[in-house]
Amino acid sequence: MHLRSVEFQMPDRAEAVNFLVAPWGMTEVASQGPTTWLRGTAGQHYSVAITEGAERALLSATLTGTREEVEAVYERVRAAGLRHSEWIECFDEPGQSSGFHVAGLEGEPYRFVVEGDRAPDALPADRGCPIRIAHVVFNTSDREASTRVLTDVFGFRLSDRTAYMSFLRCDELHHVIAYADTKRPTLNHVAFEMQDTDAVLRGMGRLKDAGWGTVWGPGRHGPGDNVFAYFVGPFGACIEYTAEIQRVDEDYVTGTPDKWAFPTGRNDQWGIFSRDMDAMAASGATFPYHPLRAG
Ligand SMILES: [Fe+2]
Repeated sequence: MHLRSVEFQMPDRAEAVNFLVAPWGMTEVASQGPTTWLRGTAGQHYSVAITEGAERALLSATLTGTREEVEAVYERVRAAGLRHSEWIECFDEPGQSSGFHVAGLEGEPYRFVVEGDRAPDALPADRGCPIRIAHVVFNTSDREASTRVLTDVFGFRLSDRTAYMSFLRCDELHHVIAYADTKRPTLNHVAFEMQDTDAVLRGMGRLKDAGWGTVWGPGRHGPGDNVFAYFVGPFGACIEYTAEIQRVDEDYVTGTPDKWAFPTGRNDQWGIFSRDMDAMAASGATFPYHPLRAG
């Protein structure tokens, strides 16, 4: 299973698409009706969908796997009694995969789809362009319960726990979904994988030239060991350039909060960043999910 894409609803699609193409670095794939699809350089039909709608919302975080894997998750979702859609044979989008929507305990909008047979070729590597969606982080008021849905129903593994966050994986990446403690269930942020640290720093410069300051970064996280730089886009969502995410295997030992306690005044490995806590908190506290779509 892999994290594949995120789907947003935005009141101003053109503004969001224009930002994600330049300065952010995505490539526009197609538009149909109210929706525009964009991709990174990975061989995927798309990584981000923007659908014009009255209110901003995350419509879904989409995971992909073989038909056998996705059908097995569907059966466990039904058995667990989570809110979910019926099985949908053909999503009307590039790749036209089949699958289903399911809501996490606090409404986190997940979607599982079957990998298509004909993925497009990767685009040439480019330090200016994101490769793919790296991870999605949700805010939750009950981290333990939310995390258990992923491990017990979706088949994820818990990679690490800190005092405030839990990091979960479904492939070799240290995490593709994480949960952070807050009072309101909202989208915390979406991360885009860049080629390397140099690409993250070049991205920061490109955003700066376009008038978009970094709200947190640059730095290197503890869990996942990834380099990061966070921004709040014109659409209000917190988004991250990241690189060098740790790859782990079955033997990775789940870390506990005491393993990841930084010294006072630090919360990353480098200690050089500036951080606009107000901007991050405003984004994280207010970016909502869309109610579960029945398809
Ligand atoms: Fe992140």
